[in-house]
Amino acid sequence: MRPFDGARVVLGVTGGIASYKTVWLARLLTQAGAEVDVVLSRSAREFVGSITFEAVTGRPAHTVLVAEGHALDHIRLAKAARVVVVAPATADFLARAAHGHADDLLGAILLATGAPVLVAPAMNDHMWAHPQVQANAERLRDLGYHVVAPGTGPLASPTEGAGPGRMPEPETLLAHVGRLLEPPGALTGRHVVVTAGPTREPVDPVRFLSNHSSGRMGVAVAAAAWRRGADVTLVAGPLSVPAPAGATVVRVGTTAEMAAAVRHALATADALVMAAAPADFAAAAPAAHKLKKDRAPEALVLARTEDILTATADARRPGAVIVGFALETERVLEGARAKLAAKDLDLVVANDATEPGAGFGGETNRVTLIARDGVPQVLPLLSKEAVAEAILDRVEALLP
Ligand code: CTP
Repeated sequence: MRPFDGARVVLGVTGGIASYKTVWLARLLTQAGAEVDVVLSRSAREFVGSITFEAVTGRPAHTVLVAEGHALDHIRLAKAARVVVVAPATADFLARAAHGHADDLLGAILLATGAPVLVAPAMNDHMWAHPQVQANAERLRDLGYHVVAPGTGPLASPTEGAGPGRMPEPETLLAHVGRLLEPPGALTGRHVVVTAGPTREPVDPVRFLSNHSSGRMGVAVAAAAWRRGADVTLVAGPLSVPAPAGATVVRVGTTAEMAAAVRHALATADALVMAAAPADFAAAAPAAHKLKKDRAPEALVLARTEDILTATADARRPGAVIVGFALETERVLEGARAKLAAKDLDLVVANDATEPGAGFGGETNRVTLIARDGVPQVLPLLSKEAVAEAILDRVEALLP
């Protein structure tokens, strides 16, 4: 079972250099199980040929509105699509779509489809900034199109690229398609706050105390919550994995900074999933200058950092679902139940750091979920993505 199995996706390609990245998007969609119907505009074919897309998707690519034997292609494709994606969307495409032009196959599909439409503009940064282009993008948003803002980064022309214009990466667009394919559920429109990664406590200006957390578990929860339709705030220490698409990422350094960011986010949160591993100890008196090795201190005096879940409990909204983790190395369930009570949690995710495949760093986890009723839900060894889904299933059920 792949995430997009059987989903028909129309992938419209218009004439921009970023269309070379759309080939990779077509491949990612196909690998995820989607049946991808590529529709190329005339100018797109100047950049990448149909045959490339056909090889990647294993399906015919479409180019013309009316051809012998294909008179109703636009209706057939539009009706079958669960999502329509236009990537890259040129300035000219935005203008034409904003005015409902239907003199080519893609334009006609957009008018005939009832499926959600994702548009990924990509162009020179000055073009994207032009009020005319902005007005067209705004018009499409008003019409219900999902317009993904382009990113800032290198553009085709090496002298340009100071402002946004670059097409988001295919992996990001894939995540957007996943969100559009998801039926509305209990998390749709909810605000979910997730913490991820370790924190760092300075010893001196160049050294710190931290731990081995990669942030992978929290990032998986944030990605899954966003796909389920939530507005996601990810409060993240230094991550060893890329931040997920869609989430608003708040970067923090120390445990106190993470506590402040969590407190702020809790004001509007429907759920908090505290997957981070905040440093529990800080240097009691961090040095203002780098500690020289010939004057090394004999001992480092530690102070406890604050417990974020406990310290921010007063900021929780009534009914907010609070999920904590319990990383233990012995008497796992006992320790987890104690944390559930002490930190006033609705759900605790217990894991044994000594077990192979569980805990920090890796791609898998073996966890037991325990809610206030105390009944353990023992899960098998799963990918962290699958663990994230199981946690969110429980969160959805606990939401008022
Ligand atoms: N946590 C927190 N603030 C901290 C440390 C941990 O809010 N300063 C959260 C973690 O994000 C996790 C839960 O508390 O959701 C339990 O973390 P864990 O490391 O298992 O336990 P600790 O509370 O740190 O206790 P101990 O180290 O004694 O097991």
